[in-house]
Amino acid sequence: MTTEIWLDTDPGFDDWMAWALLQAEPGLRLAGVSVVAGNAPLRHTLANALRIQTLHGWTTPVHAGCERPLVQAPVTAQDVLGESAMATTGRSLPPAQAQAAPGHGVQALIDAARARPGQLTLLALGPLTNVATAFDAAPDLPALLQAIVLMGGSTDRGNTTAVAEFNIHADPEAAARVFGAGVPLVMFGLNVCRQVLVGDEHVRAVRALGTERAELFADHLDAYVGIARRRGAAHMAVYDPTPVAWLARPELFSVAPAHVDVELEGRLTRGMTVCEFRVPARARPNARVAMAADGPAVMAWALQGLARALA
Ligand code: BDR
Ligand code: CA
Repeated sequence: MTTEIWLDTDPGFDDWMAWALLQAEPGLRLAGVSVVAGNAPLRHTLANALRIQTLHGWTTPVHAGCERPLVQAPVTAQDVLGESAMATTGRSLPPAQAQAAPGHGVQALIDAARARPGQLTLLALGPLTNVATAFDAAPDLPALLQAIVLMGGSTDRGNTTAVAEFNIHADPEAAARVFGAGVPLVMFGLNVCRQVLVGDEHVRAVRALGTERAELFADHLDAYVGIARRRGAAHMAVYDPTPVAWLARPELFSVAPAHVDVELEGRLTRGMTVCEFRVPARARPNARVAMAADGPAVMAWALQGLARALA
């Protein structure tokens, strides 16, 4: 059984790691990629995506998507991730050798879903601007998707504010539109991604793969773990690769049905994912929320996938 995936992403190192694991997983087939502004402005996230393609020699069409959130002013994670959101302690990605595929990412997603009714799983790893824009442009789209699997939100603490996670914080109106669209949705929030930890031992394991690509990836992984080091911690949470791990190895996770609302108004809570687990008694479920992960097993799976992706 092969799952057809559309990847919507804002690379970002952890988006790259997720994409590499997706490409390396035999049961997952990537139909196309749309890039969105998020970790950095679109010119950076798109350039990163094309440079990643070049490094790996992948040929899946990569489309440029939305530059701005639906309503609010753009926000990025450049304060944490650096100007290009692709920090490294050594080598850098090669210059892009291909251009973005023709056509806007939103239309490309719509076309891909219409070409495979009921078969496409949308993996969303950035702010949900492209996805919400696609739902507004194509009211038939939600019914065409098999599922949405996304990294975003949290059942407890945030990372950008006390309660808001970055991808939701960066475009809360888009997130609200997506959670309300009626598509079977699985949410991988900070609460579960913080159970999957990466540290120096993983940087060493990637380096030990011994290829040029592995060295280059390890330099970026080292910089990613460096975010935690600067905060006095030895391990960094693994965000975007975690839903890919679930697609490949669902037995490593537990998920719970919930009704998830995105707070749009709170002075302190805008961008919070408010999760009501008392379903169906108090609310109709609109999502499954990942609650627990076997973190070491997820990382063991990830190292095996990276060995294939970085060969
Ligand atoms: C999410 O925000 C981005 O910085 C990461 O790429 C991930 O998608 C984590 O909050
Ligand atoms: Ca991301």
